[in-house]
Amino acid sequence: MKKYLVIGKPINHSLSPQLHNYWLKENNLTGVYDKEEFDNRDLAGLILKIKNNEINGVNITVPFKKEIISYLDKLSPVAEKTQSVNTVYLEKNKIVGHNTDANGFKLALKDAEFDVLGKKIFILGAGGVVSSIIFALQEINASNIILSNRTKSKAEDIKKMFNNLKVLDWGEIPDFDMIINATSVGLKIDDDLDLDFSKVEKGKFFYDVIYNPKETMFLKKGRELGCKTENGQKMFIYQAAEAFELWHGIRPKFDDKINKIFK
Ligand code: ATR
Repeated sequence: MKKYLVIGKPINHSLSPQLHNYWLKENNLTGVYDKEEFDNRDLAGLILKIKNNEINGVNITVPFKKEIISYLDKLSPVAEKTQSVNTVYLEKNKIVGHNTDANGFKLALKDAEFDVLGKKIFILGAGGVVSSIIFALQEINASNIILSNRTKSKAEDIKKMFNNLKVLDWGEIPDFDMIINATSVGLKIDDDLDLDFSKVEKGKFFYDVIYNPKETMFLKKGRELGCKTENGQKMFIYQAAEAFELWHGIRPKFDDKINKIFK
């Protein structure tokens, strides 16, 4: 039986197994998708198992998306540019790393009917997912991307990877059309960012990469300000769908049963 895995630390919260196992069943494919908490020292062993066909595909989540790169034989162009890998598989005896987060974000924005062309986008955070978001935004021609992270040096590091990024001190809130929470603040229901959004005007777009809880304090504030809001659920589903398609050659369907996974 084919075996798939998501690895990270922590990993308990991951809904990838439910989603992938649902799609495996729906498509009459035999296989099982598990989750496993990993330490850095386990990565080499994981690669060996992929080489030996003991594991047929792996999703990588925080904090290994960059670290896994040194173990791989080949990167897709988007993984190369973002220096972030969330999907790994064996192709012609080579271990390939790909990034499906960037496309996941792009498709989620399309569903939200938000056109970034000529818009000012303000991103909070500089963790694992931020390079994928910037890559996607630049592909669809966001005109102005501003980044702020509590630890400013990490935002400066990301600035070196892309053209035309502006970095602000943590606490500064510029004029923006869309604001993205890409920090881990909000994963716990009453987690709140120490930022003052009181001067933000209505009609902006508040986007949170977090999908569990469904409405973070960040999104609640946006909603109360009269802004459009969207959580990271669609991005999560789209990134999973692209990984599924890579491994199985089938684009999985999005139906109502999927929503039950997120209840
Ligand atoms: P990683 O950094 O390992 O990739 P992540 O969950 O992707 O992990 O990133 C966590 C992000 O949330 C970081 O941008 C982090 O900011 P720092 O770089 O300063 O640590 C941000 N973050 C976490 N707790 C925060 C807090 N209380 N206030 C503001 N930002 C916070």
